Amino acid sequence: MKKITIAANWKKYLNEKESIDFVKKLNKYEDLFYNKYVDIILFPQAEHLPAVKDALEIKNVTLGLQDYDYRIKSDSEISSRCHSSGVGLDSCIVGHSERRMLHKEDNKSILEKFHILHARDIYPILCVGETQEQRDLGDTLPTIYKQLPEETPLFNPLPYAIAYEPVWSIGTGNVPSNKEIELVLSGVINSKNQPYLFYGGSVNEDNVEKLLEIDLIDGFLIGGASAKFDSFIQIIKKIN
Ligand code: 13P
Repeated sequence: MKKITIAANWKKYLNEKESIDFVKKLNKYEDLFYNKYVDIILFPQAEHLPAVKDALEIKNVTLGLQDYDYRIKSDSEISSRCHSSGVGLDSCIVGHSERRMLHKEDNKSILEKFHILHARDIYPILCVGETQEQRDLGDTLPTIYKQLPEETPLFNPLPYAIAYEPVWSIGTGNVPSNKEIELVLSGVINSKNQPYLFYGGSVNEDNVEKLLEIDLIDGFLIGGASAKFDSFIQIIKKIN
């Protein structure tokens, strides 16, 4: 059975103390992680990363950046930002719909960021997804195709992930049917991409089992439920 990644995008849900307390509680559940079917990546707020790293005792839980707070200037700037805190970051989310909307990031700058991260051996999780309006117009797949990298970075053996996160599903409790998710994920791998495939949007302990019925799914990018300790543990238990 393949491993499932849980990417916990804490956004701004937890302050520093809450993030540390969360991780300290998680340390007590160490046996949930060894030889089991989940890999965990936590994405705290960037400024909390060093403290979270210090508190974390579980070796196979890794840490990542939610994104960058500035526009790309150079490869070295991105690289140093990722490594500057000394926390050995493995991963970075790019193209989250909140970045696309609030920071007006377009497909071009997002893909530029994606390729730079990937070339720098940081595991990028590229978010793609349609708005409600695009969905209503039947534009789901064309929208997503425009958000994908044009070519697979085949030269780079480091894996990367594409997270299908329909904008209308984020934080709303509305989740597409498994068939709809399957259609999108199949479209992603048919378009010359061979990434790991994640789903994100209102995932919680009540719907994760049903979503796991989708064979193509390699992981979940989870917001709200990943910042609630009990929900998070329940999700891990259900996957295991
Ligand atoms: P929710 O799980 O709160 O819907 O958020 C999803 C998300 O935006 C993860 O990046």
